[in-house]
Amino acid sequence: LKELPSPPEIELPEGDRASQMEWLRDRVLDCPTCQANLNPQGKVVFGVGNPDADLFFCGEAPGADEETKGEPFVGKAGELLDKIISGIGLQREQTYIANVMNWRPQHDNPYGNRPPTQDEMNFCLPYLKAQITLVQPKVIVALGGTTVSGLLGHDPNRRMGDVRGNWAEFEKVPLMITFHPSYVLRNGSDKIKRMVWEDMLQVMEKIELPISDRQRGFFT
Ligand code: URA
Repeated sequence: LKELPSPPEIELPEGDRASQMEWLRDRVLDCPTCQANLNPQGKVVFGVGNPDADLFFCGEAPGADEETKGEPFVGKAGELLDKIISGIGLQREQTYIANVMNWRPQHDNPYGNRPPTQDEMNFCLPYLKAQITLVQPKVIVALGGTTVSGLLGHDPNRRMGDVRGNWAEFEKVPLMITFHPSYVLRNGSDKIKRMVWEDMLQVMEKIELPISDRQRGFFT
């Protein structure tokens, strides 16, 4: 693991939101620390979606598919996230999707992902905060325990089973904590799926999306 410099200080330039977002994206894609930590064929991954979104999904770090494509949540976890998004009646493009990390954490195993360290997440956090500042979402959804540690800080006493389904706050924005789609795929139980769906119903209420009886009744 390379020694990381102190986290970047972001001062957004004057201008409209689109040009500020473009400036930020260029800044992150050119980030020397991100570049230095990339896998050989990997790309730096910046957020995607509607810069005016009400709903902001946040994951932990790019995986293999994401670093190849240079886009968050485009692999198996992304497919499930897309299903969740269509389940609440939105399209992926209407939301904003980002990760705490902008590079895929390196490791020596032939496959799989290493969760980012707290230091790695702290380094990238200003980039995420700047995206939140620009998007000004009504709700952020934190996907998984590592993401929660990245956003709220590491707490050895925090248990996902206790905090998921609860509202927290990040950058003054209501934060819904739920399970990571990869965990749902690995765990696969109906119980976990139902919990994620209940968390999404809370999100729908908060951003005032209409909820049909069918949506209420998923998994019951
Ligand atoms: N898992 C994440 O946390 N983020 C991605 O972009 C893909 C998988």
